Order: sequence, then structure tokens, then C-alpha cells
Amino acid sequence: MSVRLAPWPLPPQSLALRPAEVHVWRASLAATAPEVETLSKTLSPDEVRRAERFYARSDRDRFILARGLLRKILGRYLDMPPAQLEFRSGPNGKPDLAASRGRPALRFNLSHAQDLALYAVTLRREVGVDVERVSHDFVDLRLAERFFCPREVLALRAVSGDQGEAFSRCWTLKEAFLKAMGEGLAFGLDRFDVSAALESPAVLPSPAGWSRGAPRWSVQQLAPGPGYVAALAIEGVAGRVECWQWPE
Ligand SMILES: CC(C)(COP(=O)(O)OP(=O)(O)OC[C@H]1O[C@@H](n2cnc3c(N)ncnc32)[C@H](O)[C@@H]1OP(=O)(O)O)[C@@H](O)C(=O)NCCC(=O)NCCS
Repeated sequence: MSVRLAPWPLPPQSLALRPAEVHVWRASLAATAPEVETLSKTLSPDEVRRAERFYARSDRDRFILARGLLRKILGRYLDMPPAQLEFRSGPNGKPDLAASRGRPALRFNLSHAQDLALYAVTLRREVGVDVERVSHDFVDLRLAERFFCPREVLALRAVSGDQGEAFSRCWTLKEAFLKAMGEGLAFGLDRFDVSAALESPAVLPSPAGWSRGAPRWSVQQLAPGPGYVAALAIEGVAGRVECWQWPE
């Protein structure tokens, strides 16, 4: 199913990422076979192996597109051919760029849901992004009671409208925060509270017991388009967030 995209502007010709900024790119993962083929040639042997492990062709193609576009986007900032980028992986699987002398110290994160991908790029600051398809089938908050912290459950209970959408929004805020820290779901979703960011962008402390620096995180929602919710988390104070549509 292809995504109906709300207008995110196209990027300017010349891209300058300043230390206080975050750039968020939205891209469609619905592409033709020749486009998939072209991007697959830019992937590393490890990425090709991962792509081959997908059982469904559609999942394989989305993985190739998501990684291929990641390489193209980062290559634009680094002024490097996409195939030359080298990634490494953190202890919980967060990808990062291998150090390249003389190039900007980019940090990035990506998320995909069906045919939509979001990429967040910063200079030197950890970043996490999450996009999810809204589930309107969600009818009770037992899942939130089981996994979220009490203030979030209270905030969700107070929602008079679509609780499925509110749950999805809270979920993306929590996942973006986890991804910025480079943690996985096993970290524990009840160890931190994002309820303040359900209303407006919020600056939140690191979770109790998380001891790897970064005392504060900026967490906010994004508007990726109809039927989707998304969130962004950045180490420190967010500064300017620019959102662009990947043009190709
Ligand atoms: C990170 C995580 C919460 C994302 O889940 P998700 O909603 O299914 O996926 P999203 O589409 O939002 O994000 C996936 C992308 O996030 C990135 N990612 C993977 N692990 C990450 C982590 N720990 N932190 C931040 N980003 C991560 C990857 O780029 C991944 O895309 P790719 O697989 O195509 O490269 C989930 O995969 C998780 O809990 N991972 C941890 C697993 C773990 O602890 N592994 C340990 C051994 S490696």
C-alpha cells in the first residue's frame, strides 16, 4: 500500500546542518524494481545478507530502500558516494557511522512503518526517531497499564477522543526516546515518563539508573502524514527542527 503524503517541503539546494539543528527527512518506501535494484548496489555485503534473510519480497525491498536512502541522505551531508559509507552497530543494534577523518560528526537514526521512512540527522548529538501506523483497533488501555509508567496511563485515560491514536502517539515518544539512548525495548518502558511531550515539545531527564551522560533529552511529536504518528528525541535542547521530503 502506498502512502498518501501530507506536504513536507522539498529541501533547499544547499544543505547546511548547524550544531543546534535537527534535520528530519521523510521518504516513501514504495519504489519500482529498477529503483530497488539501483539502491541495492550501494549496500554493504552485511546489508545485502540482511536483505536476503527477509522471507517476503516486499519486506526485502523495503529494507533495501530504507538502507539505500539512508546512504544517499547521509552521503549528501558528507559529500561521499553512498556506497562508501561505513556503518557500525552499538551494543543494542543502533547503527552509527564509522569515524571518517575530516568529515562532519553526523549522528542519525531511522524508522520505518509500511511504506514510510523517517530519518533524523544531527551533528554530534544522539538522536532517535520513530514512526508508526495509527491503530484504531486499540480499544482498551491494558497494554499501557502493563508497560507504561503511571503518569502516562493517567494522561491516556484523560483522552476523550481516539484512544488508539493517543496510545500510538505515546508509544512513538517512548520509542524515539529509547532509540536516542541506543537502548531497545528490553530497557523497560516504565522507567521513564514522556507524558509531558503528549501536549507539547518537552525537555526530559535521563531515566533513573541510566548512567551514560546526556542528562536531558528533547522529545517531541512529528506530523508524518495521515494515518501515521511519529516522534523525535534529541540529546540536549532541540534547537531548530527542519522537516523535508526526500525528493527522489
Ligand atoms: C530499536 C527498536 C526499539 C526499534 O524497533 P522498531 O519499531 O521495530 O523499528 P523502527 O522502524 O522504529 O527502527 C528500526 C531502525 O532503528 C535502528 N535501530 C536498531 N536498533 C536500534 C537501537 N537499539 N537504538 C536506536 N536505533 C536502533 C536501525 O536503523 C533499524 O533499522 P534497520 O534495521 O533497517 O537498520 C527495537 O528493534 C529494539 O528493541 N531493538 C533492540 C534489540 C537488542 O537489544 N538487540 C541486542 C543485540 S543487537
